[in-house]
Amino acid sequence: MRRILVTGGAGFVGSNFVHHVMATTDLDVTVLDKLTYAASPAALEGCPPGRVRLVVGDVADAEVVGPLVAGHDAVVHFAAESHNDNSLRDPAPFVRTNLLGTFTLLEAVRRSGVRLHHVSTDEVYGDLALDDPARFTEASAYDPSSPYSSTKAGSDHLVRAWVRSFGVPATISNCSNNYGPWQHVEKFIPRQITNVLAGGRPRVYGAGRNVRDWIHAADHASAVLRILERGRIGETYLVGAGGERSNLDVVRLILRLLGRPEDDFDLVGDRPGHDLRYAIDATKLRTELGWRPAYSDFEAGLADTIEWYVAHPGWWRAHKREVEAAYAAVGQ
Ligand code: NAD
Ligand code: TYD
Repeated sequence: MRRILVTGGAGFVGSNFVHHVMATTDLDVTVLDKLTYAASPAALEGCPPGRVRLVVGDVADAEVVGPLVAGHDAVVHFAAESHNDNSLRDPAPFVRTNLLGTFTLLEAVRRSGVRLHHVSTDEVYGDLALDDPARFTEASAYDPSSPYSSTKAGSDHLVRAWVRSFGVPATISNCSNNYGPWQHVEKFIPRQITNVLAGGRPRVYGAGRNVRDWIHAADHASAVLRILERGRIGETYLVGAGGERSNLDVVRLILRLLGRPEDDFDLVGDRPGHDLRYAIDATKLRTELGWRPAYSDFEAGLADTIEWYVAHPGWWRAHKREVEAAYAAVGQ
């Protein structure tokens, strides 16, 4: 492999992945990104000149995707509409990008024989009970709850069907919730950090007992690269770093790290269909591919992330007002 195509590489996880590729390989990268509201081209600054090229385009546009795919040795597919709350307000872009976009890429890959890695989420498996010791594995049944997770589930099914029916050389990863620099302020952790930095209070849905399994985006990036380099074609790998925490625990930790009282937050209306708990068993990735996360201490990773938001007010303030207006419209 010399050149890879990274769709959605100007987004949160995709840009972390591009930096990881720059730091640990000799690969050149072409980013294909539509530059939606969620993109941050600035996140790609600092990459070695000449090794990263940005093509602005839609992953659902076959005329753009076909020739691009054919000119690369592999494709890593991050591009997606990624926020559950947005998918409840307007599901249409989720169906278009997550389903039609993945279909368009698969057809290009089918014609050219180029290797594909499809980046997906653990939310395709639905949720687990709070008091259940079980975690998701590669054998868990698909049971998505939201327009977001159902379109990601559909995209996984498309990839598996193209592998089996057409012999497309593809792998899939399903990762748990990411945190780290460049995450859009619409998401839970950045929203709460920036609420506090802007002089407000965190906003927690329902009773805050829902559990997410947090992983640093840099660890998600290293897992995806490991699967691209060593994963077996046709296989799925779950990605997680043993980071289960309730939303209440996370928000209290954010408040403590920012020097505020731990009860200085508001409980607001719950998300419709709100998944209770996600938890990943990443044994296959660890044992078959020898992958290990670098961030084993969630509190230290969160403290770094808070520092990053403190240091980048210009970036997040540009989005904050619009995001909060959309939440306010639904009482959240
Ligand atoms: P993000 O919303 O931050 O970034 C998505 C990127 O895709 C943006 O740069 C956007 O401009 C681009 N994009 C959107 N529609 C496009 C289109 N039609 N054509 C080309 N580009 C388009 O998302 P993220 O959090 O970085 O997630 C990236 C991927 O990782 C997604 O597939 C998501 O399902 C998956 N994932 C994310 C998490 C997480 O916690 N963030 C966890 C597991 C899996
Ligand atoms: P989110 O970051 O949207 O990720 P996901 O829906 O993919 O898990 O939300 C993480 C958790 O935080 C989820 O249980 C919903 C909750 N949440 C809040 O309590 N308040 C908020 O303001 C947001 C955005 C999310």
